[in-house]
Amino acid sequence: MFEFPEVSVSRYELIADELAERGWSVQDNLLPGPLVQALAEQCRALWQQDRLTPAAIGRGGDQAVVPEIRGDYTRWLDDCPHHAANATYLALMDTLRGALNRSLFLGLDSFETHFALYPPGAGYQRHLDRFQNSPLRAVSVVAYLNQHWQPGDGGELRLHLDSGVRDFPPRAGTVAVFASADIEHEVLAAGKDRASLAGWFRRRPDNPLLR
Ligand code: OGA
Ligand code: MN
Repeated sequence: MFEFPEVSVSRYELIADELAERGWSVQDNLLPGPLVQALAEQCRALWQQDRLTPAAIGRGGDQAVVPEIRGDYTRWLDDCPHHAANATYLALMDTLRGALNRSLFLGLDSFETHFALYPPGAGYQRHLDRFQNSPLRAVSVVAYLNQHWQPGDGGELRLHLDSGVRDFPPRAGTVAVFASADIEHEVLAAGKDRASLAGWFRRRPDNPLLR
């Protein structure tokens, strides 16, 4: 395992509370710096080695790459070369999964995540993460990997809430967590490469709480 300072349990509990209360939580500096740096280096290396592929929208037979709607390049973590930082990140996410299950009774039983790189000018138009024909994605988690992100660099995560829009810069260490079925969101175009890990906690197909 990758050495890193502990993330205190209370921060996971805060995420769970905010998720229960309003459907979203954005935490600055949640991920330890050395971990973010290792993940960021890996994402950059995959990008430079041309090992990220254009992300599609839709599912199954309806999949299509439409850069005007979604312009990122991705690779599933499962499909990346072994790296100690990946195991550490997955362990952190497993702790978060436990905290969410304990306080929200969501029955989350797995996590899938991919690196994503948005080149300059790329974004992802307003959408929901839950696929219409697949209700398994319950909670979305996006971890940002951009050191030295400056005001004016763009690339914000924009949440569309009942109260209006809220924008969050994709700064290294920030983690956004939100209800996949309920929170519409988009990625604003940035002026430089924007790296992240986007992931989803899934429920079991036979979960009685599915709707
Ligand atoms: C996604 C997504 C948000 C972000 O990958 O579905 O909405 O800020 N990502 O990268
Ligand atoms: Mn999304």
